[in-house]
Parts: sequence; structure tokens; C-alpha cells
Amino acid sequence: MSNIAKAEDVVVSYRTTKGSLRALDGADLAVRAGETLAVVGESGSGKSTLGMSFGRVLPGEAKHEAGRIEVDGTDVFAIDAETLRGLRRDKLGFVFQNPMTALDPTMRVGRQVARAMPGRASDAEITALLKRAELSDPARVMRAYPHELSGGMAQRVVIAIAIARGPQLLIADEPTASLDASIREKVMATLARLRDETGASLLVLSHDLRLMARHAGRVAVMYGGRVVEIGASAEVLQRPAHPYTRALLAAASGSERPGERLEPIPGTPPTLAGRCEACAFAPRCAYAQDRCRAQRPEPREVAGRQVTCHFAEDVLADAPISTEAPR
Ligand SMILES: Nc1ncnc2c1ncn2[C@@H]1O[C@H](COP(=O)(O)OP(=O)(O)O)[C@@H](O)[C@H]1O
Ligand SMILES: [Mg+2]
Repeated sequence: MSNIAKAEDVVVSYRTTKGSLRALDGADLAVRAGETLAVVGESGSGKSTLGMSFGRVLPGEAKHEAGRIEVDGTDVFAIDAETLRGLRRDKLGFVFQNPMTALDPTMRVGRQVARAMPGRASDAEITALLKRAELSDPARVMRAYPHELSGGMAQRVVIAIAIARGPQLLIADEPTASLDASIREKVMATLARLRDETGASLLVLSHDLRLMARHAGRVAVMYGGRVVEIGASAEVLQRPAHPYTRALLAAASGSERPGERLEPIPGTPPTLAGRCEACAFAPRCAYAQDRCRAQRPEPREVAGRQVTCHFAEDVLADAPISTEAPR
């Protein structure tokens, strides 16, 4: 299967008042043409930094230290500003967590949508695009200002803008996290439907394992700025090969009953100043041995997926997580 985009051994750090913080520590990820690929992991694992790297939309304090990102064969860190603008406009579409920050509060929705569309869009073309994002009253939405819309409607406007030029890759960073629980599923379904309809790929970054299990064909699990496990959702989420995936699943299944608190994974995620020369998860890992604290695990193929763990076979051999895996 061909890839529409890929990250290879990408290192990105942020300048902070406490020195350099390494957010991506050799991240690898290939997005296949036409797939929905979910990137999951706790807050701080590097999901947003990786997502932004694909469009080189990183903030000024971020520094690309090493590695390659390719979108449709173009090395995004090697091109000039003009080429980069063209690539973002023609090949990529972004949907972020908060639609209100993505929209201009002073401009009617119709005009903002028209500006994202090629050529001079007619009102009929604008409403048709809004309709594709499943806005039920597109003529009214077109005339509205962003603050007159609900969060769900505003996110659908952002989705319409993201698909306006038929991108090859849609990058959605926690697209439903700011929305009411009751509409998360619907907005995610719209994104998945549009991906299907347009033949684009959808890279969706989320900490909602349950939602991703329903919509993504493959899932990549991030920890410490690396992808530690990637494979078919059904396999990775039913029978994890990385201890961190296993811990995440156990934590997620604890929240099944309403009112019950999410079981946290003991310990805290790492903050890296430089390259991690061990397994970043070792301090929190139930499977860790001396080797994990001495030797950085490299990605390898185990049971049909890529996994970055010295003891993946042991993890796979263990009994499934007792509580029900997310549906
Ligand atoms: N603008 C920034 N300045 C400094 N550190 C940042 C910035 N953005 C993210 N980080 C740090 O980089 C790491 C990865 O963050 P991020 O990519 O946002 O992860 P995620 O999306 O998985 O929560 C975290 O340690 C985070 O605190
Ligand atoms: Mg994030």
C-alpha cells in the first residue's frame, strides 16, 4: 500500500525557560493512502507536535533537529516558504481541538468558507460544501458569525474549510475533545465519512481510545515522543504488544462505568532534555528489566505490528486485560 505521508526518525525540541525540551525523540509514522490512522497516548506524549510537523505548522519556539517528514513525496522541512504554503493549501487540511480559535470571530462563516475554496465560490457552492460537513441549515450558517454557532456546528465549519480544496491528508488534533459527549461520535463519524468519500487519508490525534477503536483502521501509540506500537486497531487494542498500550487500555477500561474515575497509570511521563538512551517507559513499566534501563529499544516487527519494546513477546503472551477492551 502506498504512503501519502511519512515521518522518519523525527526529532523536535522546544526552547523553554528551563532549557531545551525534546518533544519528539525519533518518531516514525507512515500514513497510508486512504486510511484513518489514530495516534493515541497520554497528554504530553508528542501527538500534537507530530501532527503539526506534517504541515510544518510548529510554533516559533519549536526546533526541527533531525529526521524527515514527507507529504506526497515532498520533504516538508527542505522546501521554501512559498512551496510550503502551496503544499498546506492544496494537500493538507487541519482540524484542531477548539473550532472557535480556528475561525475568525469578526467574519461571517460564508466568507471564511469561500476564502478556503478555490476560485470565486458562489453561495450555492458554499452551502453545498457546508452540507457535505452535515450542517443542517447551511444557508443560515453561512450568514452567521462563529459565536452564533454551537461548538459542534463550528467544528463542522472548520471541517468544511479543511476539505475545501480536496486535501490528500486531513490532520485532526483532538477534533471532538472540546465538544459535548453526545455529539463527539457524530462529528467523528462525519470526518470518517468525508475521508471515505474524498479518498483522503485521515490522521487523527486523540486520547479517546474507545472512539478511535470504532473509527480508525490502524492505531499508533505514542510515548516519550516516539511511536511505541503501531498496527491494526483490532489487533493492537485487543492484544497489545507494548506494556504502555496495555497500561493505557487497562486505564481506559476502568472508566467504563459512569462516575468511576479513570485508573491512572502510576508514575509520570518523561520530560526529555536529549535523546533517551533507555526505554522511556521503563520507570513505569511492569515488565522492565535491566536491559530496558540500559538499551534504547528499536522498532521491530512482532505479531504483525511494529513495536518498540525488548519484551513484546512476553506482553503478547500474557492474558488479555481482564476488563472489557474498548469497543
Ligand atoms: N510550545 C511549547 N513550548 C514548550 N513545550 C511544549 C510546547 N508544546 C508542547 N510542549 C511539550 O512537548 C511535549 C509534547 O507535547 P505535545 O506534542 O503537545 O503532546 P500531546 O499532544 O500528546 O499532549 C510535552 O512535554 C509538552 O509539554
Ligand atoms: Mg495534543
